Amino acid sequence: MVSEQDIEKAALVLRQGGLVAFPTETVYGLGADASNPSALKKIFAAKGRPADHPLIVHIADMSEVKNWVAEVPRAAWLLAEKFWPGPLTMVLKRGPHVNDLISGGQNSVGLRVPAHPVALQLLRAFGGGIAAPSANKFGRLSPTAAEHVRQELGSAVDLVLDGGDCGVGIESTIVDLTRETPAILRPGHISAQQVGDALLAQLGENGLDRPRVSGSLASHYAPRLPLKLVHPDQTENYVRQQAGIAVAVLARRGRPRDSKTALWQVAPELPEDYARQLYAALRRLDESGCRMIVVEEPPQLPEWVAVRDRLGRASTPEPVQSPATKVG
Ligand code: TXA
Ligand code: MG
Repeated sequence: MVSEQDIEKAALVLRQGGLVAFPTETVYGLGADASNPSALKKIFAAKGRPADHPLIVHIADMSEVKNWVAEVPRAAWLLAEKFWPGPLTMVLKRGPHVNDLISGGQNSVGLRVPAHPVALQLLRAFGGGIAAPSANKFGRLSPTAAEHVRQELGSAVDLVLDGGDCGVGIESTIVDLTRETPAILRPGHISAQQVGDALLAQLGENGLDRPRVSGSLASHYAPRLPLKLVHPDQTENYVRQQAGIAVAVLARRGRPRDSKTALWQVAPELPEDYARQLYAALRRLDESGCRMIVVEEPPQLPEWVAVRDRLGRASTPEPVQSPATKVG
């Protein structure tokens, strides 16, 4: 586990402009000094991430928000009070000193106080904002264990703090507070309902006038193998159609007796447990030697919104069919 010396060493690496991967309650972050442009550039290089994708700045507590923003709307106080430290990122109008690499050339900045003891210790020891995207290659599955970070980024990271497995397992909820009406830009463990309740407000649509979120690209959070989402009634049918291709299935039920799949991985029944284990499960299936992943669609219920969002982005789009060839 992580000692006080490890934290001191990590803070020093950050001060010297290096990269430190650290655990948060959602996923592991790839951290750099948010006020050091050359350190920030290393994040983009390590991830292979396009330069116009903004970074979340992690801070130790609400008192640091003012260092990064032009104004602190009342909604930010309400949400911080209720959900920080926690898996919620607020997008606010950026302050004058925020580096363009942080804001991705937009007029906003994303801020979050993570609820993980190691992340908070690191933030306090470092004493400033830590910019941190998820510690994976661009477009890939986020890491939920230190081992995933090492496999994925290797020597591009100067130091990895191993805080064990992440408790939430999917990335933070992102809420846009730059417009009059707040909106959810990325669903997460904290639901739209909870955000709306805390603000006593109706949330707006995530329209084109909203800040861009790279995690909302249609293809993201993806394993290497093609991933298909199917209705549980259709699993066996779909697998049979793949004729001879080794298929790995991720499902919330046990393997049917007559199943033809090469590998059947049982996922947890409840949404929180499912989310916590999702990326590790997909990583395992990716390395299973199978040629394709089939995931049984979770129910279309509010408590599954965040998981369904990630599975949708991880899945391979259907080839476009022309109306003439479309059947049924
Ligand atoms: O849970 C999390 O949020 C994790 C942990 C490490 O905190 N971080 C994370 O970072 O998921 P990343 O970079 O993988 O995803 C952050 C998303 C990106 O899609 C980015 O475009 C968006 O947040 N984002 C960051 N700042 C933004 C801003 N100013 N406006 C709009 N979107 C922003
Ligand atoms: Mg990411």
